[in-house]
Amino acid sequence: MLFDHESAWADEQIYNKIYENSIKFPNEFWTHHIKDISWQKEPDSAFDEISEKWLSGGISNVCYNCVDRHALKNPNKPAIIWYGDEENDRREISFSKLLDIVTKIASILKSRGIKKGDVVGIYMPMVPEAIAAMLACARIGAIHLVIFAGFSAEALAYRLSSANAKVLLTINAFKRGGKEVNLSKNFDLLKSDIKIINLENLENYKVELTNEINWQNSEDDLFILYTSGSSGNPKKIVHSALPYMLYVTTTFKIIFGIKEDDVYFCTSDIGWITGHSYITYAPLFYGLTTVIFSGSPTYPTADRYWKIIEQEKVSIFYTAPTAIRSLQMFNKKFVKDHDLSLLRILGSVGEPINKSAWKWYFETVGNKKCPIMDTWWQTETGGIVIAPLRSLHQKPAVAGRPFFGIKTNIIYSELIIENKWPGICKTSKSHEVFKTGDGAIYDGNDIKISGRMDDVINISGHRLGTAEFECAINKINEVKESAVVAVPDEIKGQTAFAFVVLNDNKNSIPDIIKKIIKSTRNIIGPIAKADFVAFVPDLPKTRSGKIVRHLLRDVANNRKNLSEIHSVANPKAIEFAKIAASQAIFCPDMCRL
Ligand code: WTA
Repeated sequence: MLFDHESAWADEQIYNKIYENSIKFPNEFWTHHIKDISWQKEPDSAFDEISEKWLSGGISNVCYNCVDRHALKNPNKPAIIWYGDEENDRREISFSKLLDIVTKIASILKSRGIKKGDVVGIYMPMVPEAIAAMLACARIGAIHLVIFAGFSAEALAYRLSSANAKVLLTINAFKRGGKEVNLSKNFDLLKSDIKIINLENLENYKVELTNEINWQNSEDDLFILYTSGSSGNPKKIVHSALPYMLYVTTTFKIIFGIKEDDVYFCTSDIGWITGHSYITYAPLFYGLTTVIFSGSPTYPTADRYWKIIEQEKVSIFYTAPTAIRSLQMFNKKFVKDHDLSLLRILGSVGEPINKSAWKWYFETVGNKKCPIMDTWWQTETGGIVIAPLRSLHQKPAVAGRPFFGIKTNIIYSELIIENKWPGICKTSKSHEVFKTGDGAIYDGNDIKISGRMDDVINISGHRLGTAEFECAINKINEVKESAVVAVPDEIKGQTAFAFVVLNDNKNSIPDIIKKIIKSTRNIIGPIAKADFVAFVPDLPKTRSGKIVRHLLRDVANNRKNLSEIHSVANPKAIEFAKIAASQAIFCPDMCRL
């Protein structure tokens, strides 16, 4: 029997049956789905339960599956439709054109001596060449390392050197929200001798073209991506080529119930995992048109998304709660003036979606006709792990059910995964369980995610470590030490609240605040900004000198019952923190001074 991917995630009884089987017989479930992949050599098994290996013996290539096979079958179908900052900035790249661009970039990389297993940095905005660059790496077996174009020179340099990247693919500048974003000033600051390949005028590059594909096996790596964890340094995540491809494409097909003529628009960025899994690899693998946008949703007017959906006849739209909340503030007319009737499915990712945003998304954007796929997952999981069943009777803001083959559990309020799945990153230790760091509760048979339990802040869907903020703040001469915690924000979901202890100094508070803002901007990037700063004489610490951040989080959030008071060796610091928090300085006001 053919697997009916449209009803598998839409009908509760069918879901339950497939789910139970997929947990008991994972090899059987995944064997169904490896058929979507074009193999050079088929694997011996989808999942070998004894060795816990995925796709062992299989040989294929991710780029071949996403580009070549569609360029052969449907050469003129648009693979990528790009919109830029101005409304008439539009480019359409067919599958055959995409193959040309990918081949050209792959040939340039080869001519520069890049071989299988070499790491290639990509520091580019959302332009078709950025996606082609990722695919070109996959084609020759190089490992791509995308660095979000909003990161600073220092963040770029750290990632390139710690991953030992051999070259950097980039362009000089791009426009967003009517302003020019200059990337070249950042890569010019790099103190390393890394070779820079500027893809701005690709047509002018003279290079001998080579069509060669480097076939990948199940052990080969596809990419490295840095994310934030609880330490001061970004966390390196590595994903394998073939098992990762199997996972993202299967989740995409089943959860969104894709159809051949779907036009798909995801507003994320290749700098994040969503831009890898669900802008680049999953839609192109199935030969769908992926719409990308490098502008700002509110420039020149707050209807850019809705206009693009109307013009391109988008049927699946995938965005983040922070974007929904910021667009919800505008008059409904911005949405209602556009014909969005071809939308079939709406997706949300990156942070918990609140009820009011959910309702607005469902009613105003989806016209009560589109299920909201609130998808929970992480850089580490490769693809979607939890999503609600596709129905118009969903519970608002409840993530839903685990994907087939994934055994979730909630232990001490934390969501964990108890078995192996093909999308798990290679860098995760092969412990028995995979800890997510997210709090969760059951709501009937559904899982509801409450948010991070560790020292990670989610600002506008951007995952940032409090320790990264602290490192940047502590670099300022006047600062002795600091502790950064998350507080809620109406639009961004969360924002950073910094408790700062100063050395004896004579500098004025506005000057110190400006230095704090500048330092986080230079070391991490403009997305990392502490909105609140509270100056304290001391921080609450344990007897062994560890800052008690949970307690500071309670104080910053104005909670009555403080946790972990018993572990504090200097209780006076709690009182200081309370007073300072009530008088915290709101930095955006400060910037206007
Ligand atoms: C959060 C992004 C609630 C969560 C794909 C997770 C979510 C972190 C959701 C991973 C959701 C992502 N509901 N929270 N639907 N999706 N998160 O690695 O805290 O950038 O651990 O991956 O985002 O962020 P990352």
